[in-house]
Amino acid sequence: MTTTTSNLLFVSSSLFNGQSKSREVAGEFIAGWRRTHAGGQVIERPLTPENIPHLSSETLAALGKAADVRTRDETKAVAFADSLIAEVEAADTLVIAAPMYNFTIPTTLKAWIDHIARAGRTFRYTAQGPEGLLKNKKVVVVVSRGGFYTTGPAPAASMNHQEPYLRTVLGFLGLTDVSFIEVEGQAIGPDVAGKGVEAARAAASMLAGLPRAA
Ligand SMILES: Cc1cc2nc3c(=O)[nH]c(=O)nc-3n(C[C@H](O)[C@H](O)[C@H](O)COP(=O)(O)O)c2cc1C
Repeated sequence: MTTTTSNLLFVSSSLFNGQSKSREVAGEFIAGWRRTHAGGQVIERPLTPENIPHLSSETLAALGKAADVRTRDETKAVAFADSLIAEVEAADTLVIAAPMYNFTIPTTLKAWIDHIARAGRTFRYTAQGPEGLLKNKKVVVVVSRGGFYTTGPAPAASMNHQEPYLRTVLGFLGLTDVSFIEVEGQAIGPDVAGKGVEAARAAASMLAGLPRAA
């Protein structure tokens, strides 16, 4: 049992709200995490098209300006991006629920990444190459998909631009302790979909270090 205060940040990005399988499986991991982290804090950042804008040219320009010359809108935009970064920095465990949309991640999750990937803060360029600055965090990514890309009939690994992309960009930011849980076959039919969720929930429980709750 871990006794120090721990922070888990949960970033979800499904358009299916309560029906989301990536969210359900991430919830299984988080339930197990809560049981092994007494007093641990869970912060949720549910991403929707309404609450996460694309990174705009205005925000990018504002980030390059000194705080005292920013307009009110620029100050607000920078404060929002700063708050997203601060949430990640404060977390020792990051859980990301990422459905596959058109072979990659949802645009809301990409917009979140565009906001948190900031040179000089979450990564930097050195003479030896880029260095990720988000270090010593455990990351669990639950990826859900309608089809099969890794196992089962007709795997289509070369069409999977979801998991390889996430592994690359998280690693670039210094997040190298990343575990993926796959929820596949969600568009194949209820039996296959149900088995996919069950297997993923069991993997999530195991990763949290616990047998499934009865
Ligand atoms: C807009 C959209 C695009 C999708 N594109 C793909 C895809 O390219 N490949 C795939 O296997 N499934 C695709 N799906 C199916 C989802 O990945 C699947 O339903 C998954 O369970 C969604 O995650 P969620 O249950 O957490 O929302 C797509 C679903 C939606 C809504």
